[in-house]
Amino acid sequence: MSTPVSLSLLLPTLGASLPPWPFQPPPKPAIFQNTRPSTPTPTASGGAPDDFSHTNSEDSVLISKDSSMVSQLNELEQRSRHLNTTCFKDVLLNATYKGTERGRFFHSKVYNIGYCKVPKVGSTFWTLLFTTLDNGVDFGKKLLEKKRSSLHAGRYSFSSSFTYLKSAKVPIILPTRDPYSRLYSAFIDKSYLPIRINTNYDVLSIRNKSLCATDVSFQEFLQWILNEAKAGKSLDRHWAPIYSICGSCEVNAQYIAKQETFSNDIGVLLKKLNVSSEKYNFIMHTLEGKRIQSSLPGIVATILERSSGAEISRCMPWLEVTRRIWRSFQIQVKLY
Ligand SMILES: *[C@@H]1O[C@H](CO)[C@@H](O)[C@H](O)[C@H]1NC(C)=O
Ligand SMILES: *[C@@H]1O[C@H](CO)[C@@H](O)[C@H](O)[C@H]1NC(C)=O
Ligand SMILES: *[C@@H]1O[C@H](CO)[C@@H](O)[C@H](O)[C@H]1NC(C)=O
Ligand SMILES: *[C@@H]1O[C@H](CO)[C@@H](O)[C@H](O)[C@H]1NC(C)=O
Repeated sequence: MSTPVSLSLLLPTLGASLPPWPFQPPPKPAIFQNTRPSTPTPTASGGAPDDFSHTNSEDSVLISKDSSMVSQLNELEQRSRHLNTTCFKDVLLNATYKGTERGRFFHSKVYNIGYCKVPKVGSTFWTLLFTTLDNGVDFGKKLLEKKRSSLHAGRYSFSSSFTYLKSAKVPIILPTRDPYSRLYSAFIDKSYLPIRINTNYDVLSIRNKSLCATDVSFQEFLQWILNEAKAGKSLDRHWAPIYSICGSCEVNAQYIAKQETFSNDIGVLLKKLNVSSEKYNFIMHTLEGKRIQSSLPGIVATILERSSGAEISRCMPWLEVTRRIWRSFQIQVKLY
């Protein structure tokens, strides 16, 4: 059974980004040959298999007798070791990209665990998770009722910094996602959808703003990112390597949560943290909740609003904007 991450929790503040989706990279040649941006290949097929299941009974939070739990904990350790060894390999040490603009970090004081915030990797969900961890389920529920925009703007008692978490050697949760799917998703959100038209002018090196920059191919987008990195520029956090945002090789990276096995990984992590079954059930329930319908209109409205400026409506008819929105949903979201 595949368990898509609850859409509503991953959805953007005012079109900042579309939700991650259970992604299987399409055969790459097909994408690279597809240089027409107007028809990106829909790839919203099956998600990663999720054979982890839990019951809602009290005992489910105990890890001791559960052998699948043990193997999942081993898997987590294995990921952390893999990261650690990779950190000392040439390929990273010699990496061309030296940008070090750190992301924001969370720190649960109650459980002494940190998290590195990466755009597009379920950040709304993590805010909810940390609220629930430190302030309890009731606060989590209140947060769910708030508007998404206020949710992102809020300052939280668990806000922290790279510098602090590093020096205190706090165990950190690092999010990861298949880099190809992360880049493709960023492309759909920031280039294909006309909400950040300035990026497209940069990608196509168009200086003359009376020309239109609405048709960028994925290949052009990738090439532009590579050129920016080679030129020593700091990349946007939506496509900068996660290790540069999180300082993955400098922090105490104990838990690596993969986008592809998200709810599974969160379940294991919560058990490992020994959270109460009340918190566990609330968080897991929220993660699996289906509230797609209630959030889609908000996203559509946001994208339409963002693309209603003269510089976009001049270049792209309204009908084409709506077509691209629909297309992006087909790509990003599993629509039933
Ligand atoms: C990472 O590797 C270094 C050197 O190989 C080792 O000293 C350190 O204990 C390792 N850290 C973790 C968290 O495994
Ligand atoms: C990394 O850099 C070192 C020293 O400059 C060099 O000896 C090594 O071959 C490089 N490794 C790779 C994979 O480029
Ligand atoms: C910009 O493009 C428009 C339309 O092609 C053209 O008329 C104008 O001369 C160009 N401006 C510059 C500064 O090149
Ligand atoms: C987990 O938490 C419970 C109380 O919530 C406590 O009794 C138990 O000792 C804890 N287990 C571990 C391994 O910390």
